Amino acid sequence: METDNGLQRNAPIGVFDSGVGGLTVFREIMRQIPNEKIIYFGDTARVPYGSKSRETVTRYSEQIVRFLRTFHVKTIVVACNTASACALDTLEQDIDIPIIGVVKPGARAAVDVTKNGRIGVIGTEATIGSQIYTEYISKLNRNVTIYGRACPLFVPLVEEGLLEDPVTDEIARRYLAELIDIDIDTLLLGCTHYPLIRSTLSRIVGDRVTLVNPAYETALELKNMLREMDLLNEDPPGLGANQYRFYVSDKADKFVRFANSIIKYGILSAKAVNIEEY
Ligand code: DGL
Repeated sequence: METDNGLQRNAPIGVFDSGVGGLTVFREIMRQIPNEKIIYFGDTARVPYGSKSRETVTRYSEQIVRFLRTFHVKTIVVACNTASACALDTLEQDIDIPIIGVVKPGARAAVDVTKNGRIGVIGTEATIGSQIYTEYISKLNRNVTIYGRACPLFVPLVEEGLLEDPVTDEIARRYLAELIDIDIDTLLLGCTHYPLIRSTLSRIVGDRVTLVNPAYETALELKNMLREMDLLNEDPPGLGANQYRFYVSDKADKFVRFANSIIKYGILSAKAVNIEEY
Protein backbone atom coordinates (compact mmCIF):
# COMPACT_ATOMS: atom_id res chain seq x y z
CA MET A 1 0.00 0.00 0.00
CA GLU A 2 3.02 2.30 0.26
CA THR A 3 3.49 4.67 -2.68
CA ASP A 4 6.73 6.08 -4.17
CA ASN A 5 6.62 9.00 -1.77
CA GLY A 6 6.66 6.64 1.22
CA LEU A 7 3.09 7.52 2.26
CA GLN A 8 0.32 4.98 2.68
CA ARG A 9 -2.78 5.34 0.50
CA ASN A 10 -4.96 3.97 3.24
CA ALA A 11 -3.53 6.32 5.88
CA PRO A 12 -5.99 8.89 7.26
CA ILE A 13 -6.23 12.56 6.34
CA GLY A 14 -5.78 14.99 9.25
CA VAL A 15 -8.19 17.94 9.38
CA PHE A 16 -8.15 20.66 12.00
CA ASP A 17 -9.84 23.86 13.09
CA SER A 18 -10.10 25.97 16.22
CA GLY A 19 -13.47 24.34 16.95
CA VAL A 20 -16.54 23.17 15.07
CA GLY A 21 -16.07 25.35 11.97
CA GLY A 22 -13.76 22.88 10.24
CA LEU A 23 -16.65 20.42 10.18
CA THR A 24 -17.96 22.39 7.19
CA VAL A 25 -14.78 21.35 5.35
CA PHE A 26 -14.85 17.85 6.84
CA ARG A 27 -18.36 17.20 5.50
CA GLU A 28 -17.34 18.35 2.02
CA ILE A 29 -14.28 16.05 2.07
CA MET A 30 -16.41 13.10 3.13
CA ARG A 31 -18.81 13.88 0.31
CA GLN A 32 -16.17 14.25 -2.42
CA ILE A 33 -13.79 11.46 -1.37
CA PRO A 34 -15.93 9.01 0.61
CA ASN A 35 -13.27 6.28 0.80
CA GLU A 36 -10.90 8.29 2.95
CA LYS A 37 -10.36 7.97 6.67
CA ILE A 38 -10.28 11.28 8.50
CA ILE A 39 -8.94 12.34 11.88
CA TYR A 40 -10.56 15.63 12.90
CA PHE A 41 -9.21 17.84 15.64
CA GLY A 42 -11.16 20.84 17.02
CA ASP A 43 -9.27 23.06 19.45
CA THR A 44 -12.35 23.70 21.58
CA ALA A 45 -10.29 24.69 24.64
CA ARG A 46 -8.60 27.58 22.85
CA VAL A 47 -11.22 28.79 20.35
CA PRO A 48 -11.43 31.53 19.08
CA TYR A 49 -8.18 31.85 17.16
CA GLY A 50 -9.34 34.94 15.30
CA SER A 51 -8.61 37.39 18.10
CA LYS A 52 -5.14 35.95 18.84
CA SER A 53 -1.73 36.89 17.50
CA ARG A 54 -0.04 35.23 14.55
CA GLU A 55 2.59 33.76 16.92
CA THR A 56 -0.02 32.17 19.18
CA VAL A 57 -2.06 30.75 16.28
CA THR A 58 1.16 29.36 14.78
CA ARG A 59 2.16 27.69 18.06
CA TYR A 60 -1.30 26.16 18.45
CA SER A 61 -1.27 24.93 14.85
CA GLU A 62 2.17 23.37 15.25
CA GLN A 63 0.98 21.46 18.31
CA ILE A 64 -2.04 20.17 16.42
CA VAL A 65 0.09 19.09 13.46
CA ARG A 66 2.34 17.14 15.86
CA PHE A 67 -0.75 15.54 17.38
CA LEU A 68 -2.21 14.58 13.98
CA ARG A 69 1.10 13.11 12.88
CA THR A 70 0.91 10.56 15.68
CA PHE A 71 -1.78 8.92 13.48
CA HIS A 72 0.63 8.78 10.51
CA VAL A 73 -1.69 10.93 8.43
CA LYS A 74 -0.83 11.13 4.72
CA THR A 75 -1.83 14.79 4.44
CA ILE A 76 -3.20 17.63 6.56
CA VAL A 77 -5.99 20.08 5.77
CA VAL A 78 -5.91 23.31 7.74
CA ALA A 79 -9.70 23.72 7.82
CA CYS A 80 -9.43 27.14 9.43
CA ASN A 81 -8.90 30.42 7.61
CA THR A 82 -7.20 32.01 10.59
CA ALA A 83 -4.66 29.21 10.91
CA SER A 84 -4.23 29.15 7.12
CA ALA A 85 -3.59 32.91 7.14
CA CYS A 86 -1.28 32.97 10.17
CA ALA A 87 0.49 29.63 10.23
CA LEU A 88 0.39 27.78 6.91
CA ASP A 89 3.68 29.26 5.63
CA THR A 90 5.50 28.16 8.77
CA LEU A 91 3.84 24.74 8.84
CA GLU A 92 4.79 24.11 5.22
CA GLN A 93 8.44 24.78 5.94
CA ASP A 94 8.69 22.12 8.63
CA ILE A 95 6.67 19.30 7.17
CA ASP A 96 7.42 16.45 4.77
CA ILE A 97 3.81 15.53 3.95
CA PRO A 98 1.44 17.64 1.84
CA ILE A 99 -0.52 20.28 3.73
CA ILE A 100 -3.20 22.54 2.32
CA GLY A 101 -5.24 25.45 3.67
CA VAL A 102 -8.58 26.98 2.76
CA VAL A 103 -7.53 30.48 1.67
CA LYS A 104 -6.13 29.79 -1.81
CA PRO A 105 -9.08 27.60 -2.86
CA GLY A 106 -11.48 30.21 -1.45
CA ALA A 107 -9.80 33.04 -3.36
CA ARG A 108 -10.04 31.07 -6.62
CA ALA A 109 -13.71 30.34 -6.10
CA ALA A 110 -14.56 34.01 -5.42
CA VAL A 111 -12.72 35.21 -8.52
CA ASP A 112 -14.63 32.67 -10.63
CA VAL A 113 -17.98 33.85 -9.27
CA THR A 114 -17.80 37.67 -9.38
CA LYS A 115 -19.26 39.48 -12.37
CA ASN A 116 -19.02 43.10 -11.25
CA GLY A 117 -15.52 42.66 -9.75
CA ARG A 118 -16.58 43.69 -6.23
CA ILE A 119 -15.93 40.96 -3.69
CA GLY A 120 -16.69 41.22 0.01
CA VAL A 121 -14.61 39.01 2.30
CA ILE A 122 -15.72 38.33 5.84
CA GLY A 123 -13.54 36.58 8.39
CA THR A 124 -11.94 36.84 11.79
CA GLU A 125 -9.88 39.85 12.84
CA ALA A 126 -6.68 37.87 12.26
CA THR A 127 -7.67 36.73 8.76
CA ILE A 128 -8.91 40.12 7.59
CA GLY A 129 -5.97 41.90 9.28
CA SER A 130 -3.49 39.63 7.47
CA GLN A 131 -4.86 40.87 4.08
CA ILE A 132 -4.22 37.38 2.76
CA TYR A 133 -7.40 37.21 0.69
CA THR A 134 -6.69 40.60 -0.86
CA GLU A 135 -3.22 39.39 -1.76
CA TYR A 136 -4.34 36.09 -3.33
CA ILE A 137 -7.38 37.48 -5.12
CA SER A 138 -5.37 40.38 -6.59
CA LYS A 139 -2.77 37.92 -7.85
CA LEU A 140 -5.52 36.01 -9.66
CA ASN A 141 -7.23 39.09 -11.08
CA ARG A 142 -5.89 42.61 -10.68
CA ASN A 143 -9.18 44.17 -11.78
CA VAL A 144 -11.13 42.92 -8.82
CA THR A 145 -11.73 45.10 -5.76
CA ILE A 146 -11.82 43.37 -2.39
CA TYR A 147 -13.61 44.72 0.65
CA GLY A 148 -12.65 42.98 3.88
CA ARG A 149 -14.80 43.02 7.01
CA ALA A 150 -13.89 41.36 10.30
CA CYS A 151 -16.89 39.80 12.05
CA PRO A 152 -15.50 38.76 15.46
CA LEU A 153 -18.85 37.92 17.04
CA PHE A 154 -19.84 35.28 14.50
CA VAL A 155 -17.55 32.54 15.83
CA PRO A 156 -18.84 32.66 19.44
CA LEU A 157 -22.42 32.78 18.13
CA VAL A 158 -21.82 29.66 16.03
CA GLU A 159 -19.96 27.87 18.82
CA GLU A 160 -22.99 28.60 21.03
CA GLY A 161 -25.25 27.05 18.41
CA LEU A 162 -27.15 30.30 17.70
CA LEU A 163 -27.37 29.51 14.02
CA GLU A 164 -30.91 30.81 13.53
CA ASP A 165 -31.44 33.47 16.14
CA PRO A 166 -32.55 37.12 16.24
CA VAL A 167 -29.26 38.06 17.94
CA THR A 168 -27.25 36.55 15.09
CA ASP A 169 -29.54 38.33 12.63
CA GLU A 170 -29.01 41.72 14.23
CA ILE A 171 -25.23 41.37 14.41
CA ALA A 172 -25.03 40.13 10.82
CA ARG A 173 -27.10 43.12 9.68
CA ARG A 174 -24.61 45.52 11.29
CA TYR A 175 -21.53 43.75 9.97
CA LEU A 176 -22.82 43.44 6.44
CA ALA A 177 -24.50 46.85 5.96
CA GLU A 178 -21.40 48.49 4.56
CA LEU A 179 -20.69 45.65 2.12
CA ILE A 180 -24.26 45.81 0.83
CA ASP A 181 -23.93 49.59 0.30
CA ILE A 182 -20.72 49.08 -1.65
CA ASP A 183 -22.68 46.84 -4.05
CA ILE A 184 -20.62 43.66 -3.81
CA ASP A 185 -21.94 40.78 -5.91
CA THR A 186 -19.87 38.10 -4.14
CA LEU A 187 -19.46 37.43 -0.45
CA LEU A 188 -16.61 35.12 0.44
CA LEU A 189 -17.14 33.28 3.71
CA GLY A 190 -13.53 33.57 4.89
CA CYS A 191 -14.05 31.62 8.09
CA THR A 192 -15.04 27.97 8.24
CA HIS A 193 -17.61 28.72 10.93
CA TYR A 194 -19.63 31.03 8.69
CA PRO A 195 -21.25 28.47 6.35
CA LEU A 196 -23.15 27.35 9.44
CA ILE A 197 -24.99 30.69 9.44
CA ARG A 198 -25.26 30.75 5.68
CA SER A 199 -29.03 31.09 5.56
CA THR A 200 -28.93 34.14 7.85
CA LEU A 201 -26.15 35.74 5.81
CA SER A 202 -27.85 34.99 2.54
CA ARG A 203 -31.16 36.46 3.71
CA ILE A 204 -29.43 39.67 4.79
CA VAL A 205 -27.31 40.28 1.69
CA GLY A 206 -30.14 39.31 -0.66
CA ASP A 207 -30.13 37.17 -3.76
CA ARG A 208 -28.06 39.56 -5.90
CA VAL A 209 -25.03 38.52 -3.84
CA THR A 210 -23.52 35.03 -4.28
CA LEU A 211 -22.10 33.45 -1.17
CA VAL A 212 -18.84 31.55 -1.64
CA ASN A 213 -17.90 28.77 0.76
CA PRO A 214 -14.26 27.69 0.23
CA ALA A 215 -15.00 24.18 1.54
CA TYR A 216 -16.03 22.81 -1.85
CA GLU A 217 -12.89 24.11 -3.62
CA THR A 218 -10.69 22.93 -0.75
CA ALA A 219 -12.03 19.38 -0.91
CA LEU A 220 -11.61 19.43 -4.69
CA GLU A 221 -8.01 20.61 -4.40
CA LEU A 222 -7.37 17.89 -1.84
CA LYS A 223 -8.86 15.24 -4.10
CA ASN A 224 -6.82 16.39 -7.12
CA MET A 225 -3.65 16.58 -5.08
CA LEU A 226 -4.12 13.07 -3.68
CA ARG A 227 -4.86 11.75 -7.17
CA GLU A 228 -1.74 13.38 -8.61
CA MET A 229 0.39 11.94 -5.81
CA ASP A 230 -1.22 8.52 -6.25
CA LEU A 231 -2.48 8.77 -2.68
CA LEU A 232 -6.23 8.36 -3.10
CA ASN A 233 -7.54 5.45 -1.06
CA GLU A 234 -9.23 3.16 -3.54
CA ASP A 235 -10.37 0.51 -1.06
CA PRO A 236 -13.59 1.35 0.77
CA PRO A 237 -12.40 1.56 4.37
CA GLY A 238 -15.35 -0.45 5.76
CA LEU A 239 -14.53 0.72 9.24
CA GLY A 240 -17.94 1.92 10.31
CA ALA A 241 -17.58 4.45 13.07
CA ASN A 242 -13.78 4.26 12.89
CA GLN A 243 -13.59 5.80 9.45
CA TYR A 244 -13.96 9.21 11.03
CA ARG A 245 -12.42 9.96 14.38
CA PHE A 246 -12.85 13.15 16.33
CA TYR A 247 -10.60 14.74 18.92
CA VAL A 248 -11.02 18.00 20.78
CA SER A 249 -9.10 19.86 23.47
CA ASP A 250 -12.15 20.37 25.72
CA LYS A 251 -15.84 19.59 26.14
CA ALA A 252 -16.08 16.50 23.94
CA ASP A 253 -19.81 16.00 24.69
CA LYS A 254 -20.73 19.49 23.55
CA PHE A 255 -18.73 18.97 20.36
CA VAL A 256 -20.48 15.65 19.63
CA ARG A 257 -23.93 17.19 20.07
CA PHE A 258 -23.07 20.04 17.75
CA ALA A 259 -21.37 17.86 15.15
CA ASN A 260 -24.31 15.47 15.04
CA SER A 261 -26.66 18.37 14.47
CA ILE A 262 -24.89 19.48 11.29
CA ILE A 263 -23.54 16.25 9.79
CA LYS A 264 -25.77 13.39 8.68
CA TYR A 265 -23.21 10.73 9.49
CA GLY A 266 -23.63 9.72 13.14
CA ILE A 267 -20.60 10.94 15.06
CA LEU A 268 -20.69 8.57 17.95
CA SER A 269 -17.96 10.03 20.09
CA ALA A 270 -15.12 12.49 20.37
CA LYS A 271 -12.15 12.20 22.64
CA ALA A 272 -10.64 15.08 24.62
CA VAL A 273 -6.84 15.32 24.55
CA ASN A 274 -4.41 17.65 26.27
CA ILE A 275 -3.05 19.41 23.20
CA GLU A 276 -0.47 21.36 25.25
CA GLU A 277 1.43 18.08 25.59
CA TYR A 278 2.28 18.04 21.88
N1 DGL B 1 -13.01 28.73 11.89
C1 DGL B 1 -11.86 29.51 11.92
C2 DGL B 1 -11.59 30.27 10.67
O1 DGL B 1 -11.88 29.74 9.62
C3 DGL B 1 -11.44 30.16 13.19
C4 DGL B 1 -12.39 30.96 13.96
C5 DGL B 1 -11.80 31.36 15.27
O2 DGL B 1 -11.37 30.46 15.99
O3 DGL B 1 -11.74 32.56 15.54
O4 DGL B 1 -11.06 31.34 10.68
